[in-house]
Amino acid sequence: MIFGATGDLAKRKLFPSLYHLFRKGKIAKNFAVVGVARRELSNEEFQAHVKDSVLTSIGKDENIEEFVSHFYYKSNDVSDSDSYIELNQLAVQLDEKYELGGNRIFYLAMAPEFFGTITDHLKQDGLTDTQGFKRLVIEKPFGHDLESAEVLNNQIRASFSEKEIYRIDHYLGKEMVQNIEVIRFANALFEPLWNNRYISNIQITSSEELGVEERGRYYEKSGALRDMVQNHMMQMVALLAMEPPIRLTTDEIRSEKVKVLRALRPLKDEEVKDYFVRGQYDAGSINGTEVQGYREGSNVDPESNTETFVAGKLMIDNFRWAGTPFYIRTGKRMEAKSTKIVIQFKDIPMNLYYNTDKQLSPNLLVIHIQPEEGITLHLNAKKTGQNIETTPVKLNFVNNGVDGMNTPEAYEKLLHDCMRGDATNFTHWDEVKLSWAFTDTISNVWENTTEEEFPNYQAGSMGPLAADKLLAQDGFFWWPFSALEVDEC
Ligand code: BG6
Repeated sequence: MIFGATGDLAKRKLFPSLYHLFRKGKIAKNFAVVGVARRELSNEEFQAHVKDSVLTSIGKDENIEEFVSHFYYKSNDVSDSDSYIELNQLAVQLDEKYELGGNRIFYLAMAPEFFGTITDHLKQDGLTDTQGFKRLVIEKPFGHDLESAEVLNNQIRASFSEKEIYRIDHYLGKEMVQNIEVIRFANALFEPLWNNRYISNIQITSSEELGVEERGRYYEKSGALRDMVQNHMMQMVALLAMEPPIRLTTDEIRSEKVKVLRALRPLKDEEVKDYFVRGQYDAGSINGTEVQGYREGSNVDPESNTETFVAGKLMIDNFRWAGTPFYIRTGKRMEAKSTKIVIQFKDIPMNLYYNTDKQLSPNLLVIHIQPEEGITLHLNAKKTGQNIETTPVKLNFVNNGVDGMNTPEAYEKLLHDCMRGDATNFTHWDEVKLSWAFTDTISNVWENTTEEEFPNYQAGSMGPLAADKLLAQDGFFWWPFSALEVDEC
């Protein structure tokens, strides 16, 4: 059952992903999807809507009639028990028709203020009282800060156990984010070096060209810290920093990630400015198109103090990472859409090749998350010719991404995992809690101090100068951003 079935997420991501799963035979005959939303629609109208969303996003519609014949619609008032009782009746009928064994997944693709009310009703009106499994899939944002997240969690935990809750972080569905573990734990080459003795720093950049678009109302209250850092960026840090799990089970992996988040050095209010930088975009130009500044956007306060860019330094105070900074950077209206991780290895103890006029480049491992997917290893080799001179070379295993960013791919994997009962790539409450606890300090300081410099970066740039200084003070710099890395090699 998809709550919010007439919304944007369902249209752009969920229906196309379900269709992919259907085409691949991952969901076959025994399934039914009930779209739930406020608006009155007939089953036929809803099916036409689903068909349209599949066609628009995939451009193919093989077997689409058969696919949409599994879709039903129920209009619902989120706070009215009668709607849920009727929904349950429909669910019981479909259960028999498709022999579903009472297995139910409730997907809340809705504004978060409704999460608690819906889960209360699901229990109270009998929908969770089923013979098969019951699972709740919940979209972000999971709360606004630790306090509100706790309230929400307590509320949904009254109807679902932790094991039944699948908190979506769509970054965990991305191919190359899932690959971090494999690169680390399936290669004898990297794991022995994966620590503070050999790695000088790790940089994670997730830049976007898009601005805040029509989401001003949401974004004004969220900002980049809550929108991207508390979830996606911190999840990537956890995957990069965690100890090898003893087994690849959900519980073992999650418990290692939780340990990383527990080891994050907490910041005191007065330290926030030394570790974190915020930015807000001004007007500028992206790919030759003039774009307006954040404050000019719709539903945005003309004197807004909301950040559209964050750069930060995270220290993980454990044996493996003490002294090795993890830098993160994310923002809207930047130079290009790209997510990549750069692992910079320490310089070798002595450089024998000072006969060249340049210093040796450090070894880098670059994990390209999107739009390219793959890895590049930067090494030094001999320059062809008589002299022993060095030159940087790149070993590349990169392709140009499947089909862009935030694709149904990620949702497809996550939906399938949920159907199979595999919660590994969803965030556990302990992770959510620890991430909020960390970011709350920063947002409290930022909310209580007006940033006089805002706007402080031009649309189309790589953020404010202060983000470069953050690394420069430690003797590092952001590795040159190049969306063209694949072609260069
Ligand atoms: C979402 C944020 O979680 O992630 C958006 O709410 C952001 O603001 C998006 O644009 C980025 O996802 P992706 O997959 O395009 O990097």
